[in-house]
Amino acid sequence: MEKQKSERLDKILSMSGFGSRKDVKKLVKQGAVTVNGKTANDAGIKICPLTDEIRVFNEEVNYKEHIYIMMNKPDGVISATADEKGTTVIDLLEGEYSHRNLFPVGRLDRDAEGLILLTDDGKLAHSLLSPKNKVEKVYYVEVMGILNEDDVDAFGKGISLEDFITLPSKLDILEAGNISKALVKIYEGKFHQVKRMMKARGKHVTYLKRISIGPLNLDEKLGPGKWRELTDSEVYELQNIV
Ligand code: URA
Repeated sequence: MEKQKSERLDKILSMSGFGSRKDVKKLVKQGAVTVNGKTANDAGIKICPLTDEIRVFNEEVNYKEHIYIMMNKPDGVISATADEKGTTVIDLLEGEYSHRNLFPVGRLDRDAEGLILLTDDGKLAHSLLSPKNKVEKVYYVEVMGILNEDDVDAFGKGISLEDFITLPSKLDILEAGNISKALVKIYEGKFHQVKRMMKARGKHVTYLKRISIGPLNLDEKLGPGKWRELTDSEVYELQNIV
């Protein structure tokens, strides 16, 4: 786990949901905040949230430097922080964490479902999205058309799209028929990538669901639109992908 550094008391309280820095200053002035059992009288003091015990009205404050949430994005929801017309993944949090600047790591198409990671950890997001890290993403896909071994070979070699050639990827056919079912593993994240790869093979995607990002698997217990915070070990594994 990353070593936690000292932070200003007002920043810690504000990031823990106690309002703006101004609100927090008022709480301190009221004498509502204690640090290691002593009433704090300066909102600007630096403390270490790992070792110092902070209480507000005698309730212990559970400070987290970063928040990590996995969500099962449903069809029709936009993977953005805000949208004038549609519902976004952030809207699905219903204001919880509104004191944190959470954003989705990467995108899923509006009609795609499945695993999306929401965080305020820019460093982790950058490492998951950086093309040089080639983080594996696994999708369950249903397509119109019969998938066959030629498709498996083509995915394995890399598929030539209008503007680029994909990295070698993996296609595991689960069921071949008029509607075929498969798992696709890709190592980059270009716009509509799986749909475009399938289109290049003459297949039309009718259903797309992301089931993993690197070591992080979508929790099967999360129904569409549901979410939960990552466990410490899930965060640790993500932080150690490179
Ligand atoms: N590939 C797609 O075509 N769409 C997604 O949302 C993700 C991968």
